[in-house]
Amino acid sequence: MSFRTRLEAGESRPRLADLYAPIAAELAHAERLFQAELQSRFPFVQHLVDHGADFQGKRLRPALVLLSGRACGRLTEAHPVLAAVVEMIHTATLVHDDVLDEAIVRRHAATVNAEWGNETAVLLGDYLFTHAFHLAASLESTRACRWIGHATNKVCEGEMQQVHHRGNFELGEAEYFAIIEGKTAELTAVCCRLGASYAGAPEATVEALERYGRNLGIAFQIADDVLDIWGDERNTGKSLGTDLEKQKLTLPLIYLLQLVEPEIAASLRRVLAEATADQRKHLRPYLETTGALDRAWQRAQQHVEQALDALHGLADSDAKSVLRILAQYVVRRPA
Ligand code: IPE
Ligand code: IPE
Ligand code: MG
Ligand code: MG
Repeated sequence: MSFRTRLEAGESRPRLADLYAPIAAELAHAERLFQAELQSRFPFVQHLVDHGADFQGKRLRPALVLLSGRACGRLTEAHPVLAAVVEMIHTATLVHDDVLDEAIVRRHAATVNAEWGNETAVLLGDYLFTHAFHLAASLESTRACRWIGHATNKVCEGEMQQVHHRGNFELGEAEYFAIIEGKTAELTAVCCRLGASYAGAPEATVEALERYGRNLGIAFQIADDVLDIWGDERNTGKSLGTDLEKQKLTLPLIYLLQLVEPEIAASLRRVLAEATADQRKHLRPYLETTGALDRAWQRAQQHVEQALDALHGLADSDAKSVLRILAQYVVRRPA
């Protein structure tokens, strides 16, 4: 059975290591570049970097760079560099996000803020951001720096809009989408754009891959927001319920408030204003019986379909098959 047939016939949630097989060598290369770039002569700083190396995430964004490149043509020397850069940016946003969310667990370990305090976490995030641009600037053209800079600006805008709307229980769907398109989908979109562009793909293909990445990112964040209420910390390996604690209205709750009678919506808003993580259990039956949960999943699924649709024009390849499976994986990851 070919790699592609095996994957496409496989279980609904394949192992990431299997999915990454077509780009395993380049991903390992990116990993070495990542660690080398972050090296510090100061033992404390190196200790923080080592903590990151010991507890790694899914490496989804570097995989998107490499798979998009491979699906469009040949990988170049630039690809592992770009893969390392986007993972650095992503890690920086997580380190800062955990400060904002006062999260204590990330990637199955203590967060930097929980273990070493907010000051260290803010500075480590800065260290990661600045190294990301330092590494990106080693590439001949300034294209990557500009694109990654632009995407990172949008991520920060999305996070700032989210902070601004804390406690706003009237937040609408359009505002929610503007937030998640910024904080999450901009980065996944630029990963795919970079991968395709550096493989020499024509502009129409670069744009198609960007559309794939953007829709994947949106679906990913909707699923993540559902998991914040529904997931199990032992499986996700991160603090959950922080959206409720920080009074961030997410799609399942926006739908819930739309679906119930106005008096019930008013009492739910009062409950949400209390902002405790154990509201997770309290809200679950409402989300289920009103259909709000299903509606959020359907919305995520629509973006998965749009991501798949964006891949239509690409010639068949192992990398394209994996991109297809990844789009579905992001809404079915461990809960
Ligand atoms: C977490 O992203 C942040 C969100 C955008 C929801 P990931 O789930 O990709 O985090 P890691 O890299 O695997 O830890
Ligand atoms: C994603 O939002 C954070 C960024 C994209 C920076 P969340 O706050 O939902 O991410 P998790 O759930 O902590 O990983
Ligand atoms: Mg968070
Ligand atoms: Mg979350």
